Amino acid sequence: MTLKKFLPTALIALTPLMATSAFAAGLTVGFSQIGSESGWRAAETSVSKSEAQKRNVTLKIADAQQKQENQIKAIRSFVAQGVDAIFLAPVVATGWDAVLGEAKDAKIPVILLDRDIETANKSLYLTAVTSDSVHEGAVAGEWLAKQVGDKPCNVVELQGTVGASVATNRKKGFDDAIAKHANIKVVRSQTGDFTRAKGKEVAESFLKAENGGKNICALYAHNDDMAVGAIQAIKEAGLKPGKDILVVSIDAVPDIFKAFMAGEANATVELTPNMAGPAFDALIAYKDKGTVPPKWIQTESKLYTPTDDPQKIYDSKKGLGY
Ligand code: AHR
Repeated sequence: MTLKKFLPTALIALTPLMATSAFAAGLTVGFSQIGSESGWRAAETSVSKSEAQKRNVTLKIADAQQKQENQIKAIRSFVAQGVDAIFLAPVVATGWDAVLGEAKDAKIPVILLDRDIETANKSLYLTAVTSDSVHEGAVAGEWLAKQVGDKPCNVVELQGTVGASVATNRKKGFDDAIAKHANIKVVRSQTGDFTRAKGKEVAESFLKAENGGKNICALYAHNDDMAVGAIQAIKEAGLKPGKDILVVSIDAVPDIFKAFMAGEANATVELTPNMAGPAFDALIAYKDKGTVPPKWIQTESKLYTPTDDPQKIYDSKKGLGY
């Protein structure tokens, strides 16, 4: 939809900020969201709604319940509705070329949120708003290496959803970081699908297989929800999470700060839930002025430990929909 033709000239001539929000006011964006597997995901959905509201954008969210086929259906439906743009949080990295080709043929720009896709045709999407998830894994690995020094350390790893870019990358980043330290070894690694329940279940099997947990020095989880599930499993096994077994994970959801306060978790790497804000800004500039965004809009990744005033951070995150 070309909005300029519906706007009076005087309105177009307003200050850039006002003109931008006036322009955005007519946009409709379809968002194919993965589901609600984690606290982080819930916050991302909630922040996306409020970022759309701030800009008067109509946001239609389709929950894919973790299934790529549902995401493909949702994209086709958004194309049929003639939305102005599509946001896609791709559950897995591969298998998008055909449906994104349909969006491209319909001249509907697609913006990737928080996860990447594998494609030889980068023109299928306008930009990707994501963190550097290899770096996140590396930050977790380097933090652990510093903690343990020269001591031998057996690590168990809870991976994210199989085939998701963030799971592949967080594994790679961590593996690369600890490769420089012969004393640190990943002895078990399995998917916990980014959920608290699966994280607990898989952690229980790790504990059983590793002498009730006595052979484990650290747990690395690709998200905080799985870490929180694992913390419960470690306690039920009669060990102290955060002390007997170090816990490092990713996301920085409020519950991990609670775990910091209880001395049960040791480090997390923050992933901002605000992927939609930068995506809306890039989209509006593109539609309004033809400004082509960079192919990758990178969000910040920050390490937090219990020395970072967990109560204050917990309070600051409470209202974000986690
Ligand atoms: O893609 C981002 C990841 O997906 C988050 O780290 C995890 O919590 C979510 O499920």
